[in-house]
Amino acid sequence: MTALVDFVKGLPKAELHLHIEGTLEPELLLKLAKRNNIELKHASVEELKEAYQFSNLQDFLDIYYAGANVLLQEQDFYDLTWAYLEKIHKQNVKHTEIFFDPETHTSRGIAFKTVLDGITRALKDGEEKLGISNRLIMCFLRHLDEESAFRTLEEALPYKDQIVGVGLDSSEKGNPPAKHQRVFAKAIEEGFLTVAHAGEEGTAKNVRDAVDLLKIFRIDHGNATVNDPELAKELAEKQIPLTICPLSNLSLKVVPKLEDHPLKKLMDLGLLVTVNSDDPAYFGGYINENYIETAKALQLSLEDISTLAKNSFKASLLSQQEKENYYQMIDGYCNQARV
Ligand code: ADE
Ligand code: ZN
Repeated sequence: MTALVDFVKGLPKAELHLHIEGTLEPELLLKLAKRNNIELKHASVEELKEAYQFSNLQDFLDIYYAGANVLLQEQDFYDLTWAYLEKIHKQNVKHTEIFFDPETHTSRGIAFKTVLDGITRALKDGEEKLGISNRLIMCFLRHLDEESAFRTLEEALPYKDQIVGVGLDSSEKGNPPAKHQRVFAKAIEEGFLTVAHAGEEGTAKNVRDAVDLLKIFRIDHGNATVNDPELAKELAEKQIPLTICPLSNLSLKVVPKLEDHPLKKLMDLGLLVTVNSDDPAYFGGYINENYIETAKALQLSLEDISTLAKNSFKASLLSQQEKENYYQMIDGYCNQARV
């Protein structure tokens, strides 16, 4: 097994599905609570970790939004983002496209600019000091109403140079893509790219609607695609990427066991599948752990793993030349590892 672990560790990768609020490790959460004089329900690392047992997505979201309450100052958002970048630097992630949830913070009276400034200052340092390139995508919380999303979009307009796209996250059940169709149309009109979580706890119909109604260029999760052969065929033909998050799916009981994960089936159907960590502080692993555990459970070959790494760049927003450079880098790495 160490051959697999070493191979994954050395492989250049991009991460395309990562909620920055989901990288809040218990240690940093406690430190920020103390710094900001916030009382917590769970007051130790052990208690927090014990609380991270989820039966479904909503269970997780309740704890995740409560955790985000410790983020108040620009420096808090910087520290959060910087800690994530240091982690992935050690995991050989070269490029990351991260989500943030403005409404989680603006609804608590924190200025949009405070959130954005902290995150982007850390991203700039990550680029300069660690060589990690990035893009930033803001997500609308789909359990909130359309007005909230429109207000958030309005707030983002002065920052088009810093935010490339809009996404859609939070509770999928009861909040289908159609609910946000108008605000996504407006976002596209304003020049933003679009992505959406779909087919995580919801059905393949949500994946279909995210493509047709929200005009997404990439689907976040998309597991349910495996249940609809026509849809799978179309996504494969159009090479619309799926950002799959295996350890998240396991933690939130989207799959009962990793062995049951549809990732390999979707790859075999010709879809552009990528592996990502979603909310690593809550789901027990960053990107390498996701690659390694999935490879073990689904008996992926080293070639499958290198395909997943190449896919991560292919599905990214990097330029074609940058993508080609990473494909070459991965081929060189595989040759040297004799894969
Ligand atoms: N927000 C953070 N993680 C999420 C997930 N896995 N699904 C939906 N919304 C989220
Ligand atoms: Zn997610």
